[in-house]
Amino acid sequence: MQRFSDALLDWFYENRRLLPFRQEPTPYHIWISEIMLQQTRMTAAVPYYERFVAELPDPAALAACDPDRLRKLWQGLGYYSRAANLQKAARVICEQYGGELPADYDALRALPGIGDYTAGAIASIGFGMAVPAVDGNVLRVFARLYDDDSDVTRPETKRLFTERVCEQLPADNPGDFNQALMELGALVCLPNGAPLCKRCPLAAVCLGRASGRAASLPVKPAKKPR
Ligand code: ADE
Repeated sequence: MQRFSDALLDWFYENRRLLPFRQEPTPYHIWISEIMLQQTRMTAAVPYYERFVAELPDPAALAACDPDRLRKLWQGLGYYSRAANLQKAARVICEQYGGELPADYDALRALPGIGDYTAGAIASIGFGMAVPAVDGNVLRVFARLYDDDSDVTRPETKRLFTERVCEQLPADNPGDFNQALMELGALVCLPNGAPLCKRCPLAAVCLGRASGRAASLPVKPAKKPR
């Protein structure tokens, strides 16, 4: 049996989408793309990303950008506080880190607008550090792999699933591994009860597939009526 991570990476290199931030995955590019992708679909985010990094190619340009111009670049993406936080963080990066994103998970995590997931994505994809990056896609993939019906909105569940991701994370290629998990969640291990298990490189080791319960995972509690 191939290593879990090798099966996943082989699939990724055959099937990944060509995305602009994958052409030149600098920490700055990964940061901007991941913030945009938090609340915006890939196809909608890509043209915004391209315009943004063409006009603001580094933290110094972002820090100095006129707020009206920044608002224009963000207009249509929504949740403008994301752009305001990007600029705040860019100013910290210029003042404290000489204009380059810090190659340190905790320092990244402390910047405005950067949570566990985004810090993990920048550290692993941008800097090649062996840290996890667990988003909703990854929680879904792991709930199904382990046939685990724990409530994924609970912090304990996220912690446990993150530990399981760490057990598989290859030290030699953590950034591609993290992106491969996200890509698997986006292209194969689909939400809304529709996993395409026939195309999945991990089907042979997936407990949710074996039990027949994959489509009903992950478990999230019913939304409270308002
Ligand atoms: N969704 C959010 N970030 C992503 C990434 N780096 N690759 C694929 N899907 C994503």
